[in-house]
Amino acid sequence: MKKIAVLTSGGDAPGMNAALRAVVRSGLHYGMETYGVRDGFKGLVEDDIFLMTRTHVTRIINRGGTILGSARYPEFKNKATQEKAAENLKRRDIEGIVIIGGDGSFRGALALSEQGIMTMGLPATIDNDIAATDYSIGFFTALDTAVSSIDKLRDTSFSHQRCSVVEVMGRHCGDLALYAGIAVGSEFIITPETGFDKALTIKEVKASFDRKKRHAIVVLTEKMTDVFTLAKDIEKATGHETRATVLGHVQRGGTPQAFDRVLATEMAERAVELLKNRENNQIVGLEGKEIVHREMASALAMKKHMPSKRYGLVGQLRN
Ligand code: ADP
Ligand code: F6P
Repeated sequence: MKKIAVLTSGGDAPGMNAALRAVVRSGLHYGMETYGVRDGFKGLVEDDIFLMTRTHVTRIINRGGTILGSARYPEFKNKATQEKAAENLKRRDIEGIVIIGGDGSFRGALALSEQGIMTMGLPATIDNDIAATDYSIGFFTALDTAVSSIDKLRDTSFSHQRCSVVEVMGRHCGDLALYAGIAVGSEFIITPETGFDKALTIKEVKASFDRKKRHAIVVLTEKMTDVFTLAKDIEKATGHETRATVLGHVQRGGTPQAFDRVLATEMAERAVELLKNRENNQIVGLEGKEIVHREMASALAMKKHMPSKRYGLVGQLRN
């Protein structure tokens, strides 16, 4: 294979640039040209494609966001746009493409492979919701951001003897809330996997204040419930002032931490090597310490596994 392309798609994640750098540099290593596509599948359809050189990816390994830009582009579900995208690649003799994004982006990749383009998926999302990898690029950086923000909230909650209810991202996956909740020593976590039980949440926060703690922290995944209403309910039931904080998109930005850079680099190198060997339709992942790859459709059908003990830790260590 002489020419490949690369794009970043869906919600951006810290470490996408490190992945882009490694795709371009690995391409050069294997004697291939790498074309960058701006703004995800939108750029592919609109023919916003350019040859990337070594200098395009200089000094980006430590930069948040994605230098190529990313987009949510629902139009890519239409066959006509998929055909157009494939045409734009074929006209340049580009045979393969590395798609850096989440599971939505991989569905786009599948569609593209049906149009005769060889595709490789690199999991990059702060949600860590892709079962085919232990960790996705960006998860640990977002987790660090959530943890350092909640540490700050704990300072002020302690001073004022308050409860802090903190909403983190994750879409349908509770990993960010679960790991952050453990890392900050929270009183209670609420995730899609645990479900939301208002009475139990209030009971645990109240029990914590009854044990003479000066503050309480509840961490929850977005969309589980309205955090501002929950804060009011906790305040009413416990008599302790309660404040709600939605961390929001701050979790998506910032310098990728070291592990995300290493993961991005290793996964990207593997993806390019696979394309060089004319492998098609794979998602690269991390399994233990090994970089692995799986056929895309079956990888997308996999269910995430979390050791059940990890969910119990917060309750077990509450006293
Ligand atoms: P993520 O990749 O982070 O999960 P999205 O779910 O928004 O983010 O998906 C990113 C993009 O992938 C979408 O905006 C769309 O362009 C493309 N995409 C998502 N689902 C499909 C699908 N079923 N068929 C084709 N393209 C899709
Ligand atoms: O998938 C990443 C993510 O940040 C989710 O955690 C969140 O639900 C969603 O994207 C937010 O999307 P947008 O940036 O389009 O508002």
